Amino acid sequence: MADLDGIKVEKNYHLDEEFAATGNFHVKGAANLDWGMKKRLTNIFNPKSGNTVMFAFDHGYFMGSVSGLERLDLLIPRLIDHVDVLMATRGALRSSVKPGFRKGVALRVSSGSSMLNDDLSHEVIAVDIEDAIRMDVDCLAVQVFIGAKGQLESIDNLSRVINAGMRYSIPTLGVVAVGKEMERTDQYFKLATRILAELGVSIVKTYYCDKFEEVVAACPVPIVVAGGKKLPEKEALEMAYQSIQGGARGLDMGRNIFQSYHPAEMADAIGKIVHEKFTAKEAWEYYSGAVHS
Ligand code: 5RP
Repeated sequence: MADLDGIKVEKNYHLDEEFAATGNFHVKGAANLDWGMKKRLTNIFNPKSGNTVMFAFDHGYFMGSVSGLERLDLLIPRLIDHVDVLMATRGALRSSVKPGFRKGVALRVSSGSSMLNDDLSHEVIAVDIEDAIRMDVDCLAVQVFIGAKGQLESIDNLSRVINAGMRYSIPTLGVVAVGKEMERTDQYFKLATRILAELGVSIVKTYYCDKFEEVVAACPVPIVVAGGKKLPEKEALEMAYQSIQGGARGLDMGRNIFQSYHPAEMADAIGKIVHEKFTAKEAWEYYSGAVHS
């Protein structure tokens, strides 16, 4: 246990060097995966930009009907053409989203707590792999609680889901959970994202932080950045821009889209940053123009 016994060697993330193991595939760390995995990852990451706008509306799995998500049946048809991927529970998808859409699907498959619990870190796998196959999803999303009381069970959940996904060529998205007691530092995110990648996820969802480029460099699979609590739109666009500048391959946003007064325009503005290299200023001008037209 070198780093625990006092031997410290300075780290070098080689920030001036691109990821070297790309092969001829556009998704980081996926060059050696099989055809089915690559097909599904291409449903998530646009082959031209290499990036994705994921729309997360899975909050109900532990928060119930949060503001903005009261009526999925009304919201999702308004937003679906403005994003690349829907991240949701099977209950939300089956009950409220017509199946004939041509977007990626990230299916939330872990659950087990609610807002009524102090400790949210104890989860189980809630969806059988057969049901994910029936729904033809593009990845399986599992919450992982590194450093929390539920760490062992969440890593067990993640590993079981990765193993099942590997059998049927369905990638896993590991979601780095940030509990009350965990700090949002680059040290924490470097630890958590790397653990998830080494365990075999194909995508990591985490938060933006200082030294984000180092978090990205040390993670051999693509990172998508979570939105978190609602920010003023201008700040959310700045955060999206900084994330993409720092090497994120997309955003996986919920509240910063669906709690905006203009969710479709906000999703479009995020898409301009993610796919068209807009700066935060350009995206803000685009958003402002769209909502005032
Ligand atoms: C929970 C999740 C949710 O999808 C997440 O909360 C995304 O939504 P938001 O952008 O509102 O935080 O992964 O960890």
